[in-house]
Amino acid sequence: TTTVFGKYLFGTMELPPRPTLFDFHGVSMTKFFTANWDSIQNFKARPDDILIATYPKAGTTWVSYILDLLYFGQTCPEGHMSTSLHERVPFLEITIPSLLSGKDMADHLPTTPRLIKTHLPVQFVPKSFWEQNCRIVYVGRNAKDNVVSYFHFDRMNNGQPEPGDWSSFLQRFMEGNVVFGSWYDHVNGWWEKKQTHSKLHYMFYEDLIEDFGRELDSLCSFLGLSPSAEEKERIATGTKFDNMKQNKMTNYSTVEVMNQNVSPFMRKGKVGDWKNHFTVAQNEQFDEDYKKKMKNPKLQFRTEV
Ligand code: A3P
Repeated sequence: TTTVFGKYLFGTMELPPRPTLFDFHGVSMTKFFTANWDSIQNFKARPDDILIATYPKAGTTWVSYILDLLYFGQTCPEGHMSTSLHERVPFLEITIPSLLSGKDMADHLPTTPRLIKTHLPVQFVPKSFWEQNCRIVYVGRNAKDNVVSYFHFDRMNNGQPEPGDWSSFLQRFMEGNVVFGSWYDHVNGWWEKKQTHSKLHYMFYEDLIEDFGRELDSLCSFLGLSPSAEEKERIATGTKFDNMKQNKMTNYSTVEVMNQNVSPFMRKGKVGDWKNHFTVAQNEQFDEDYKKKMKNPKLQFRTEV
């Protein structure tokens, strides 16, 4: 709450120490996402579970809220809309001492279908999601805006390692030395999975910005839902950036570890903010490196719309 941020600001509450990165089976991770590894790997997915998978900062919250409204916006189960979105859509792999883990939250979700969020690279997803042939919605965002958003997130989130300055963060992002590892491996790994797991809907942040209605229709057809025109309009309005920024259930203002005075969680919500951060030299170096890592012509990201 703002009270707790206030306490941080005025120094009456000690900030938790920032975690450090380590190599976990070839992927940079922190203890908050690996502490309960066996139990996460043994998670029992149900056939109607829907997994929302993303690299951090690709639009997870936005798409989570779209799905939440699609399934529960009309029925509004008791207490649902006064519960924070991050509790309605648990973060599978998160384990913070003295709080319920994401897995436990998912195990105790009162609503069906369960909407579950993950940032895991595809090779780390618990096998029950594949065995149960669950629907999966993957959201990708162009690397340049993704790294900018991630930099500001790591500045404001005391649960993440120190980002350092922009140029060193950018370098580490290119090396895959940030939490959840390489963006390039993540988007490519999930893209490859789509070729064999037909119930994987791979969507793009830039497409949602460009034409929300078209993307909502395509998502609904994947999910087998047919909301009315009024319902779609309600979802479009509820999930608009400015509305989600004002909404205490979606703007993360209830999460104490985030200091929104440093940078708000709902920061800009735009395509192309990278242009305000990359120098010409950084952009050239990034493009050159990008070409080497992104070889699949079918997987195209747009840096402007
Ligand atoms: P910016 O930092 O570029 O503003 P995630 O939910 O995966 O952590 O992603 C957060 C990013 O998505 C932030 O990007 C945030 O502002 C943006 N975002 C969240 N809700 C959005 C919405 N309704 N419309 C557009 N962007 C949104």
